[in-house]
Amino acid sequence: MKSNTYRLDRYISQYSEYSQADVRVLIAQKRIVLDGKPADSIAQRVTKFTHVVLDGVCLNDTQPAYIMLNKPAGIVSATQDQQHTTVLDLIEHPQKDELHLVGRLDFNTTGLVLLTNDGRWSRRISLPATKLPKTYEVTLAQPLRQEYEAVFAAGVYFAYENITTQPAQLEIVSDYCARLTLVEGKYHQVKRMFGVFDNEVTSLHRISVGPIRLGDLAPGATRPLSAEEVACVDIAEAANT
Ligand code: URA
Repeated sequence: MKSNTYRLDRYISQYSEYSQADVRVLIAQKRIVLDGKPADSIAQRVTKFTHVVLDGVCLNDTQPAYIMLNKPAGIVSATQDQQHTTVLDLIEHPQKDELHLVGRLDFNTTGLVLLTNDGRWSRRISLPATKLPKTYEVTLAQPLRQEYEAVFAAGVYFAYENITTQPAQLEIVSDYCARLTLVEGKYHQVKRMFGVFDNEVTSLHRISVGPIRLGDLAPGATRPLSAEEVACVDIAEAANT
């Protein structure tokens, strides 16, 4: 299904032998069942994940899938690549071919990557207005300095895009290690932020996106998200409206 939703009569005419004009009669005879309930209007919306049954035959049973992967280094954040292993190559899932990535990590960045077949969810989780914090563990080539905290909290100017980054929270863990939390995802953002101090990022590992935490998932392993993790988008949106 290309668009987000179909009107029921259009959906039935596209995916069965019946015409749009037949749908009123099919509804009156209770021959169409949507998510377990008889359809009651030609204008009902059918989404990619609506369970649709016509005369006892299932026309759509696509299940939403939400997965996390602990991305190892040296893997491309893409679904296809001619040269390198992609995150999709690491995934075994019955709906693997439907999945897309929710944001990307650089080739050598490790950690939490989200994949789904739900385009609406991935758009919502990625919207800057949703402001879901993303936390990274960062190792630097040079010792960290306390002043970084205030600079990152104030925002760093990126001349190329002519933007100042949103306030970011830096927690210095040791001389060379820190935890950085961002509410956005500009191109190479973490590396460029430390680049302001000429301090090279030598390793970068994403540990969480909002309340979705990588935990002790092994590198290369996947697990489905819980219902609560999926619903974090609703909570974040409500908090920002
Ligand atoms: N920032 C970076 O610089 N790289 C990543 O992979 C993610 C955030």
